[in-house]
Amino acid sequence: MNETHHTPPQYARPAHAEGSGLRARREFLRTVALGVAAVAAAPLLRGHAAHAAAQGGKSMLIVHFSHSGNTRRLAACIQRLTGGDSAEIRPLTPYPRDYDAVVDMAKQEQRRNVRPAIAPMQPNPADYDTLFLGYPNWWGTFPMPVATFLESYPVGGRTLVPFCTHEGSRLGKSEQDLRRLCPQARLLKGFEVRGSRVDGAEPAVKAWLTELGLI
Ligand SMILES: Cc1cc2nc3c(=O)[nH]c(=O)nc-3n(C[C@H](O)[C@H](O)[C@H](O)COP(=O)(O)O)c2cc1C
Repeated sequence: MNETHHTPPQYARPAHAEGSGLRARREFLRTVALGVAAVAAAPLLRGHAAHAAAQGGKSMLIVHFSHSGNTRRLAACIQRLTGGDSAEIRPLTPYPRDYDAVVDMAKQEQRRNVRPAIAPMQPNPADYDTLFLGYPNWWGTFPMPVATFLESYPVGGRTLVPFCTHEGSRLGKSEQDLRRLCPQARLLKGFEVRGSRVDGAEPAVKAWLTELGLI
């Protein structure tokens, strides 16, 4: 991806910045535990999607990746408003919490166009008609685990609805990159908000979903 488009990320550091091995281990264990819980809940969630489809309703899955929580909170807002199901893209190796470390790592991954391994996703995105896809803007586009997701669970001709948090670059060139990775998808207009403004974003989210005819 072309880094000349990217705003150098010199944004506010998260207050919780820390990077101990203990924390990484705790995060790994949490990922495993969540994976087990998600597998246990999968039949219920698939039931929800099947029920929505049987009712003639739209079956929606809100997928997101988040490093420091902003995009996760935006995903939760979209889920509340749509009544869709949710799923998270979880890299098998969590990113460092230290700001400089994650900035460097993200830059390297983008330069090398790598596909970081992600945990298997439950519920299965293949069961849904409409996929929302949320991510933070990292160096002008989506983080590389999102590319792993798109190649692991191809969208095909289904509907893809991007949403993004950032600190000034908005959606960057992420929509262009989505179009390249998912050439057949019906790509709808994306939503963007500054990470620091997610908590007041519900009216704007509602207006966007209404405009798209999704609520
Ligand atoms: C590695 C990295 C790169 C970033 N690059 C950009 C960028 O190019 N443009 C921008 O506006 N914000 C950038 N940011 C800021 C994030 O997009 C913003 O803080 C976002 O809300 C974080 O979302 P999250 O809390 O869901 O991880 C970057 C942050 C990180 C950690």
